Amino acid sequence: MAIRQILYLPDPALKTVCDPVDSVTSEVQALMDDLLETMYDDNGIGLSANQVGVLQRVLVMDVPKGAWKYTGEDADGILHIGSARRGDAGAEETDEEIDTHNVLMMANPEIIEASEQKSAYLEGCLSVPGQFADVVRPAKVKVRYLDRDGKTQEQEFEGLDSHCVQHEIDHLNGIVFIDHLSRLKRSTLVRKLEKYKKSHNLD
Ligand code: NI
Repeated sequence: MAIRQILYLPDPALKTVCDPVDSVTSEVQALMDDLLETMYDDNGIGLSANQVGVLQRVLVMDVPKGAWKYTGEDADGILHIGSARRGDAGAEETDEEIDTHNVLMMANPEIIEASEQKSAYLEGCLSVPGQFADVVRPAKVKVRYLDRDGKTQEQEFEGLDSHCVQHEIDHLNGIVFIDHLSRLKRSTLVRKLEKYKKSHNLD
């Protein structure tokens, strides 16, 4: 396994619609493993192949179990999602020994069902370092994909898991979370990103 270089906006790879893989070869498996290691190295919960410059429809994610909770519903009927850390009021007591990892590796993921109900979450992205914004998406989705063994899987997602899988599938379609924001919010965030990159020597 190897840690790969994460690309930042405005790298053209992040605007590219990625190609499906023919099958989950050992090269694709190695890519999945590298993506996972790279994601952990940068404390992410999801990473897509084009974020490291590989233009294939491959992603990985690991949203820890119990990492989120619904915090309420707003006047527009949108469910809001917050983080649920140990010690938070209402959060279940978690033992240090419990493995909260929830690793998923996907090739050719497709959203095959999406709920009418929407949810909002303060999203960030390893390719847009230091920047966060509320993004509204379908609260629940069903995704069909090939797993690391090349087996077809169908899985339902909600909450943070749902935002994460939709965010990563967006990447494979050349869409970054800031593309869901208004033009004004987006341009403000892009300006802040450029300042952030300069002050942290990122390019
Ligand atoms: Ni991202």
